[in-house]
Amino acid sequence: MILVTGASGELGRAIVERLVGAGQAVIAATRQPAAGSEQRRVDFDQPDSLDFTGIATVVMVSAGYGEDDVVIARHENVVAAAERDGVQHLIYTSVATDGDHLGFALAHRWTERRLAGSSLRWTILRNGLYAELFGSLLAPSEGVITAPFGSGAVAVVTRADLAEAAANVASEPDRHINRVYDLVGARAITVDQIAEAAGLVYRPDTLGSRRAALEAGGLLPFQPAMLLSIYSCGAHGFLSRTTHDLRDLLGRGPTDPGPAIMERMEQPSAD
Ligand SMILES: NC(=O)c1ccc[n+]([C@@H]2O[C@H](COP(=O)([O-])OP(=O)(O)OC[C@H]3O[C@@H](n4cnc5c(N)ncnc54)[C@H](OP(=O)(O)O)[C@@H]3O)[C@@H](O)[C@H]2O)c1
Repeated sequence: MILVTGASGELGRAIVERLVGAGQAVIAATRQPAAGSEQRRVDFDQPDSLDFTGIATVVMVSAGYGEDDVVIARHENVVAAAERDGVQHLIYTSVATDGDHLGFALAHRWTERRLAGSSLRWTILRNGLYAELFGSLLAPSEGVITAPFGSGAVAVVTRADLAEAAANVASEPDRHINRVYDLVGARAITVDQIAEAAGLVYRPDTLGSRRAALEAGGLLPFQPAMLLSIYSCGAHGFLSRTTHDLRDLLGRGPTDPGPAIMERMEQPSAD
């Protein structure tokens, strides 16, 4: 039996759909199961909700969107419960190798270390920046994209590809014991290239002016710094590394991220 956490989120839902489509026995785990559904309640902040009895493989979708201590405590709860309940293999969605300087990287790397020192078999899926998130950061206004990505190229990847890769690993975990995969795009793309393809103009912004706009935007306290780190890493070449790992897990080349980027540029609120 495979259990997937974050099953109401975009990545977790897509992983569950892939596994169901492949005929796997899967439990969709979420903080708020739909009434009458077979979903299981799993809330990383509530250790009492973490029951993995009878589960062979857990796909642990990272639960970010918090300060490091909050995220780390969540992930500790899950790994400890998996060890206690005899889970055989835990698959964790981490952040790309090139993303070490991102503001949320520390909690991911902590979780990787925790798993490496655990009694579990594990697989680390180091996910690159979602094409959808990249698109949402480029929302144009009156034909102009304004963003502090400079001329940096980013090896973005679609959520659908990442979900398929995770489902493939969960379907045959024994082939991926204690492996780390760097799941980034096959090519890195610049905002200039996106603007040209969309018939738009790109006017690079500065990190300072974007920080001021974000801080005035009513976000949670940790969010401006985390978003700024995405812009800065992208602008300065720290998200441009490409690998063959995604191709290897999918058995085909990664999907062109262009359409996903364009779609989210038009509907940025989805990310
Ligand atoms: N690679 C990237 O570009 C990128 C971008 C943004 C985020 N991320 C990371 O990747 C993860 C998945 O991305 P996504 O697109 O699926 O995000 P999403 O649609 O926002 O879903 C995140 C899900 O995390 C789960 N979650 C949050 N807090 C939790 C908690 N305390 N206990 C259990 N589950 C909790 C929730 O699942 P339920 O609602 O089902 O409980 C939530 O829906 C994010 O959580 C974040 O850590 C990666």
